[in-house]
Amino acid sequence: MSEEDTATAETRHLARYRGDYPIVVDGLVNRFGSQTVHEDLSLKVRRGEIIGVVGGSGTGKSVLMRSIIGLQHPSEGSIEVFGRSITDAEPDQNLGVRSRWGVLFQGGALFSTLTVGENVEVPLRQFYPDIEDELLHEIARYKVMLSGLPEEAVSKYPSELSGGMKKRAGLARALALDPELLFLDEPTAGLDPIGAAAFDRLTRELKETLGLTVFLITHDLDTLHEICDRVAVLADKQVIAVGTIEELLALDHPWIQEYFNGPRGRAALASKERSSMDKQPKAGA
Ligand SMILES: Nc1ncnc2c1ncn2[C@@H]1O[C@H](COP(=O)(O)OP(=O)(O)OP(=O)(O)O)[C@@H](O)[C@H]1O
Ligand SMILES: [Mg+2]
Repeated sequence: MSEEDTATAETRHLARYRGDYPIVVDGLVNRFGSQTVHEDLSLKVRRGEIIGVVGGSGTGKSVLMRSIIGLQHPSEGSIEVFGRSITDAEPDQNLGVRSRWGVLFQGGALFSTLTVGENVEVPLRQFYPDIEDELLHEIARYKVMLSGLPEEAVSKYPSELSGGMKKRAGLARALALDPELLFLDEPTAGLDPIGAAAFDRLTRELKETLGLTVFLITHDLDTLHEICDRVAVLADKQVIAVGTIEELLALDHPWIQEYFNGPRGRAALASKERSSMDKQPKAGA
């Protein structure tokens, strides 16, 4: 860790990002051999929003996320996170910036030989090697409970958890370092509708109480309607539109129309309208 990065890690709680756009992607190109996944893709994520990222399977949503967090070095273009260049940095640079985001990967990616608590401790040990074990366990227990798991889950192994619990354990690990920015790749995939709705509520609550910015890749139309402030649409190797669902519906793009205005899209909208009617005070009540 460079001196500058150490200093950034130490003072990051005092100096939260105050700019308007914690993520700025400009002119991104990603190629794998002869396959071009992204061509001149640009996107700005606003501070404090939950931005939903949608697109057909294989359009490069996960590759975009991996590029932003520095795991995929793009062929061209620039990416800034918290005003620091990710694309120009070597993998071991920018540790100060890296400690300010948390990631829930598609599929969860917990270490199967570690308990839930030990999984949450991994990033803590990496960034704060001098923390005493007792404090480490305490922080891990707190993050596990923050993610809506019972305290006993701390000592369970991933194989002993249900799919929904694994997602929450992954979320606990993503929250380990008190991030300002949270990346969630398909967090509700594979959950039943009730479990998915509960995970959505948790995401929204965490965003509000912890002041997070959330980059949320999803196919889940209910999630998009219920918790996303804006939605970015990936198609034709670019982000072709960003806006509220209402704004997107006004666009004349076939994929957008089919996605949001097809039978599933309309059902999600109807369900959102029903749930907001339920929240309104009843006349005469
Ligand atoms: N490391 C890699 N090497 C070669 N090709 C890759 C690599 N990573 C991704 N790709 C290719 O890039 C394309 C986009 O993949 P990506 O995983 O980003 O899709 P996605 O939009 O997340 O899809 P899904 O909705 O199914 O998760 C795919 O065609 C994939 O095969
Ligand atoms: Mg993906």
